[in-house]
Amino acid sequence: MNETIRKMKNHTSIRHFKDYPVSEEVLIELVEAGQSASSSNFIQAYTLISVKDVKKRKIIAEIAGNQTHIVDAPLFIVFVADLERARLSASLHGAAMIEAETESFILATVDTALMAQNVMIAAESLGLGGVYIGAIRNNPEVVSTLLELPLNTYPVFGMCLGYPLTENEKKPRLPVEMILKTDTYQSGNEVELLQKYDLEMEAYYLKRTAAKRTDNWTKQMARMFSKPLRPHMKSFLRSRKLNDD
Ligand SMILES: Cc1cc2nc3c(=O)[nH]c(=O)nc-3n(C[C@H](O)[C@H](O)[C@H](O)COP(=O)(O)O)c2cc1C
Repeated sequence: MNETIRKMKNHTSIRHFKDYPVSEEVLIELVEAGQSASSSNFIQAYTLISVKDVKKRKIIAEIAGNQTHIVDAPLFIVFVADLERARLSASLHGAAMIEAETESFILATVDTALMAQNVMIAAESLGLGGVYIGAIRNNPEVVSTLLELPLNTYPVFGMCLGYPLTENEKKPRLPVEMILKTDTYQSGNEVELLQKYDLEMEAYYLKRTAAKRTDNWTKQMARMFSKPLRPHMKSFLRSRKLNDD
């Protein structure tokens, strides 16, 4: 295993940070590493907003269910999927971008996620750590207003970054044999593999240092997917001209 893969396999989300700033040089380095990610049709459909204003951070932390690391982290970046630049480019050539297309929405979201994960890996390679904050989508409207986001953009997630103060034990992932298949999706032993993984996750949750609990992965999924997931996203994306459903 080489150093890059070792680092990637040792990833854990970091939610507690040393009181030590991340320099502007490091931030630019991370963003440039992010920009080097592949990009569908080279649209580079993202904008990053580093939120320094403490008042804004506090509002966002509250929106995200009082995640205090949003206020405490040396860096908090909102990753915005951005088709506004594409609209502007089209208009420079007398063309009108077709808005609210599902495919464009997917392209922009995928581009943003790929760039963000490059940022995370680059950060970890420099000894920093971080955590994604999807919970900003609890109220994407207010986040968009706070950051003055134009139409044709939306805040996909935030990311806290800094030098780790505490680290969690690594979370076991699903077995590779569930994730990697050959020629066909069907394999027949899904339930057996899930039950085995549940035992592994149960042991992990009982053993870990922080937030020990009795739980497993399929229970987590059952809880999550048996209730509506941020149903406001549909009308919100429509209001941003990113969906016409
Ligand atoms: C898009 C996305 C959004 C996330 N949102 C949150 C969040 O709002 N708060 C949080 O504490 N962790 C969040 N996470 C972190 C996940 O909970 C974490 O990655 C997962 O449990 C696996 O743990 P690990 O990263 O430590 O391996 C998010 C992760 C992703 C990829």
